Amino acid sequence: MKIAYMVGGLSKESHNQGLGKFIAANPPEGVEFVELNIRDLPLYNRDFDADYPQVARDLKNAVEDADGLLIITPEHNRMYSAAIANALEWLSRPWGKASLKRKPVYIAGTAMGPIGTAVAQAHLRATVGFQDALVMNQPELYLDYTKFGINADGTVDNESTQEFIKGAMATFAAFITEHGNKDQQTRSEM
Ligand SMILES: Cc1cc2nc3c(=O)[nH]c(=O)nc-3n(C[C@H](O)[C@H](O)[C@H](O)COP(=O)(O)O)c2cc1C
Repeated sequence: MKIAYMVGGLSKESHNQGLGKFIAANPPEGVEFVELNIRDLPLYNRDFDADYPQVARDLKNAVEDADGLLIITPEHNRMYSAAIANALEWLSRPWGKASLKRKPVYIAGTAMGPIGTAVAQAHLRATVGFQDALVMNQPELYLDYTKFGINADGTVDNESTQEFIKGAMATFAAFITEHGNKDQQTRSEM
């Protein structure tokens, strides 16, 4: 099973990048995590619809080829990051070729505050829900990295947090097995 993942923190010191590294290095049995390049996407506008740039074609193809999508986002001003918003705009277009239709999606994130991206995630659930993704809502995975020790280098200090993250990914893999059907999803063939 292939799970594509995107990380909305673009800093070299991003704790969300660290969370992504930990997840990719500790997959459930039979799962491969594939990182998506959202950093090099231009800002979307609909003039691109007639001819998507290669980086956006690659993004759509990689998401459509995956069995599920994991979105790891920081919280920026109580919202998911602009990098995630931009990637989701590219994925939602061209009209009629949206990539998230019936795609199993799971959302995770870490922040320096006690609500650890919960507000950003609530917005994100609405956005991917609008794109008709199959969102797994539980367990919610938002973590305060100052409390649980999620580091930019991909290590997680707190052992029970490690287990919680691994367990959440195993639950997502089971969700994909139960609900996912790549063949029935819309393919944009870009
Ligand atoms: C532009 C900006 C806005 C932020 N807004 C929030 C916020 O709304 N809630 C929050 O918990 N943290 C907020 N923070 C702090 C982030 O939690 C912190 O910078 C975190 O490390 C960002 O994730 P990253 O390490 O993956 O880049 C904000 C940080 C930035 C740079």
